[in-house]
Amino acid sequence: MQRVDMIIHNAGQLVTCVSGGRVKRGAAMQDVGIIDDGGVAIADGKFVAVGTSSAIRAKFTADEVLDAEGRVVCPGLVDPHTHIVYAGDRLNEFELKIKGADYLDILASGGGIISTVRHTREASIEMLVEQSLKRLDKMLACGTTTCEIKTGYGLDTETELKMLAVIEVLDKRHPIDIVPTFLAAHAVPPEFKGNADGYVGLICEEMLRWAWKWYEESHFSSKNRPFFIDVFTEKNAYDVAQTRRIFETASEIGFGIKAHVDQFTNLGGSRLAMEMNAASIDHLDAISDAEIELLANSNTVGIVIPTENFNAGKTQFANARKMIDNGCAIALSTDYNPGSAPCPSQPMAMAISCRYQKLLPSEALNAATVNAAFAIGLGETHGSIEVGKQADIVVMKASDYRALAYEFGGNMTANVIKAGEAV
Ligand code: NIG
Ligand code: FE
Repeated sequence: MQRVDMIIHNAGQLVTCVSGGRVKRGAAMQDVGIIDDGGVAIADGKFVAVGTSSAIRAKFTADEVLDAEGRVVCPGLVDPHTHIVYAGDRLNEFELKIKGADYLDILASGGGIISTVRHTREASIEMLVEQSLKRLDKMLACGTTTCEIKTGYGLDTETELKMLAVIEVLDKRHPIDIVPTFLAAHAVPPEFKGNADGYVGLICEEMLRWAWKWYEESHFSSKNRPFFIDVFTEKNAYDVAQTRRIFETASEIGFGIKAHVDQFTNLGGSRLAMEMNAASIDHLDAISDAEIELLANSNTVGIVIPTENFNAGKTQFANARKMIDNGCAIALSTDYNPGSAPCPSQPMAMAISCRYQKLLPSEALNAATVNAAFAIGLGETHGSIEVGKQADIVVMKASDYRALAYEFGGNMTANVIKAGEAV
């Protein structure tokens, strides 16, 4: 008998999302790697064995034994695109949008992202930490154990660095593992209205260096977590030439690349990001067939964000069905933010995706776990139940994993295990 820290057994379905070290693309997204009556052994925060309950019990003992009582046990969910560090709210904008106002028009008139920037600039680090921890708690309660967080509500050097400092405190204080992304090019700051090129110059000549210095001194770099650059390539935000300048400068410094592209308008940002070997391209509502083909043949993961469409009351969604059918690797995210997607729940994103983007529950689960981990550079260590990976697990109040995307509006999470510890 081998002694380990924890055993979980009697999982009606142990849904591993096993991927063998590769992102899942095309038809492989339908395979969630189910072991009936499954179990796992965990030591030092990692999986040391994955198999049937009887095989696990025959080989391992532990003080901590969790009986899943026939429930679904699946990987901790991974949310690869969020903006949860902010102050203030956008409830007035919610009402304006119900009455017919347009997201990009609100932004152009100094509301939207810019209104959150005003509040975030005024907020202290402590206040941002306190509010953001509550958002992480909500995500954890819905089964998310790893997420990406973007800056982008500072739009000046001081506040963007303040947001990075907040993200590091969050990672230290909260069980959710975080990957930081620098989104100084989220909107054009009021000081540079009509002079986006001037602000892009500031980003390239000053902000990126400071951000990288922060990263090198942060615990993210010592933990080997990646650090990404992101740009909102869109009308009233940044064009492709500006995006290229930021990406080229950032990638020379060492940043990985992510991109907000084709959310409303196809400006060619997807193609640019893929040419630059982006880890992910995100939104993709307006992506072209030619770009879908490029995506299928690239190392880039396409992140679709159906919560944004749902929140805007749209009936059109990114055509994730077509992307998967053409061999793309697709991930899902909540985009949790105060304006376009106030949603902490990956299961909710899965539920919307199944109905409006026609993903199968299996595809949605792979998209919210292992593929999402690859989209933030953590595919080797997170996102699936495989020997050697970090032991992040959710026990669901269901006996069939498909219920996770089927039921909506409640919460199916029974237990969460993060790096082998119950949280
Ligand atoms: O992914 N599109 C730009 N950025 C976010 C929205 C952020 C906000 O509205 O505050 C998005 O939708
Ligand atoms: Fe976003």
